[in-house]
Amino acid sequence: MIIRSSEYAVSAVKEKQYPKDNLPEIALAGRSNVGKSSLINTLLKRKNLARTSSQPGKTQTLNFYLVNDDFYLVDVPGYGYAKVSQKRRQEFGEMIQDYLETRLNLKGLIILIDSRHEPTKDDISMYEYAQYLNIPILVVCTKMDKIKKSQANKVMAGLRKKLDLNYDHVTVLTFSSVTKFHVTELGNWIEDKISQ
Ligand code: GTP
Ligand code: MG
Repeated sequence: MIIRSSEYAVSAVKEKQYPKDNLPEIALAGRSNVGKSSLINTLLKRKNLARTSSQPGKTQTLNFYLVNDDFYLVDVPGYGYAKVSQKRRQEFGEMIQDYLETRLNLKGLIILIDSRHEPTKDDISMYEYAQYLNIPILVVCTKMDKIKKSQANKVMAGLRKKLDLNYDHVTVLTFSSVTKFHVTELGNWIEDKISQ
């Protein structure tokens, strides 16, 4: 995919704030700090379009980024961040659920999982939930630059142990925002989904 333009469009917490132009959307979900905002910046070749932070919990709303005037990437608040209050966590959950369950122009969900750890309970729930909703899924194993070459094959094995990857609409990719490993494949997957 060739990136010709990218811009921040809007932040939303409820449906009436979502963009109304009916373009296809690809959303990103994953634990807080897993690298969602970084992946957006890497794909779009922008340093700081999506705000990133070493402190978890940076993204707190659904943030829509318009790409090539053609589709939106939707940055979603991370789950599993302990310092967020129970009430806030429930609000986040409802916001994400409302979006995933009602958004007709959602064409795919990228679920990010930290390569250094096996999928957590929250990762497994998100994956199974997306399966249930029948959304095309790309599982992205992030921060591969932190994995020793000799350990790289263990990442997939750890993933398979926890997630059933044998579905037609599931694709898996290892990735790094630091080295841009597999950024072309990421773009290809998105291009394919938004054109369907
Ligand atoms: P929330 O907004 O809190 O949900 O987090 P996020 O998933 O958007 O994570 P973010 O992109 O802000 O990245 C969190 C931290 O991980 C930052 O310090 C990033 O620099 C770092 N990081 C992200 N991707 C990579 C990667 O591929 N490799 C390495 N080494 N660090 C990364
Ligand atoms: Mg973020």
